[in-house]
Amino acid sequence: MKALVLSGGSGTRLRPFSYSMPKQLIPIANKPVLEHVLENIRDLGIVDVGVIVGDLGPQIAEVMGDGSRLGLRIAYIQQSEPLGLAHCVRLAQPFLGADDFVMYLGDNMLPDGIADMDRTFRTERSAAHLAVHKVPDPRMFGVAELDDARRVRRVVEKPRQPLSDLALIGVYFFTPAIHRAVDAITPSTRGELEITDAIQWLISNGHDVTASEYTGYWKDTGRTDDVLDCNRRQLEQIRSDTAGEVDAASVLAGQVIVEAGARVIRSRVDGPVVIGAGTVIEDSHIGPGTSIGRECAVHDTVVTDSIVLDGASIRGVPGLRGSLIGRGATIGVGRPGDTHHRLVVGDHTRIVVAA
Ligand code: TTP
Repeated sequence: MKALVLSGGSGTRLRPFSYSMPKQLIPIANKPVLEHVLENIRDLGIVDVGVIVGDLGPQIAEVMGDGSRLGLRIAYIQQSEPLGLAHCVRLAQPFLGADDFVMYLGDNMLPDGIADMDRTFRTERSAAHLAVHKVPDPRMFGVAELDDARRVRRVVEKPRQPLSDLALIGVYFFTPAIHRAVDAITPSTRGELEITDAIQWLISNGHDVTASEYTGYWKDTGRTDDVLDCNRRQLEQIRSDTAGEVDAASVLAGQVIVEAGARVIRSRVDGPVVIGAGTVIEDSHIGPGTSIGRECAVHDTVVTDSIVLDGASIRGVPGLRGSLIGRGATIGVGRPGDTHHRLVVGDHTRIVVAA
């Protein structure tokens, strides 16, 4: 059994981050989404993982390397354009060969694990075994209609009038039967080879397609608010660990990780919070649900429920909340007497100031 992890895509919903970094490297509790995904796959006992990457693939290879750090063997597969999930399967055919595989979207978080689904697939070996999850508005998703025996009768992409509230989430188990299906389908009206079309082809051609309902926490981290929500959820699982320095004038409350080489000076930290290696927090208050990356500088600032990526610097900002701050970004105050704001803001950035 192999795994295919999709880490290309355009990431338009996560601009401006996706202009300069693959969204699969956005940190959740200071660990890339993709690393959470790969750990889930490793926990199934799978070793060989094909990772589909786009233009920003070299950054992924730099962080994940050959996979040995996680006990995996990673093969990178370049996709020149995001032509759809089924296109990824086509591209990966030489890597996948005649093996069964799990296809996992590299920006999806299923922290409660997929071991049960994996067991069901390995026992029953239907041509496709799909992870489905109840959602409030199925019209935004691929939707599965099931019969009483968990057999999938039909899959429909973004139906106007859904016949079920079970959305396909980012995990699919396949036997090699899927290869005939992805070779048989043609691009959809949005120009992509849709995995739902390939799955529907399997059903229409008499193959068994089944589903398991995943009832744990699931998040597609494709949008800022979902990234923050997921970060909050993951931080709830951390346990305090202070490898860095905390001076006598600082207070840590709740679960707080201060990584090696980080320094907390005259500050208050209310967990759950993680502070990355080499970061300095000075005269500040860090509130719950906040992850601060590595080599950041935070001075005279109050920040809560936020993610600050590596190398960012924040000075003199009294009320940051629900914020996602990019790598090396600088936020500060002007000189005494300055009466205006000065913004140097990248394309498609979103700024909301206090009312
Ligand atoms: P999506 O999030 O559905 O697509 P996207 O990355 O283009 O994002 P947006 O809608 O914001 O523009 O993709 C799901 C996952 O699959 C994600 O990890 C990216 C990956 N993917 C590929 O690797 N190749 C592709 O051709 C597509 C469409 C997605």
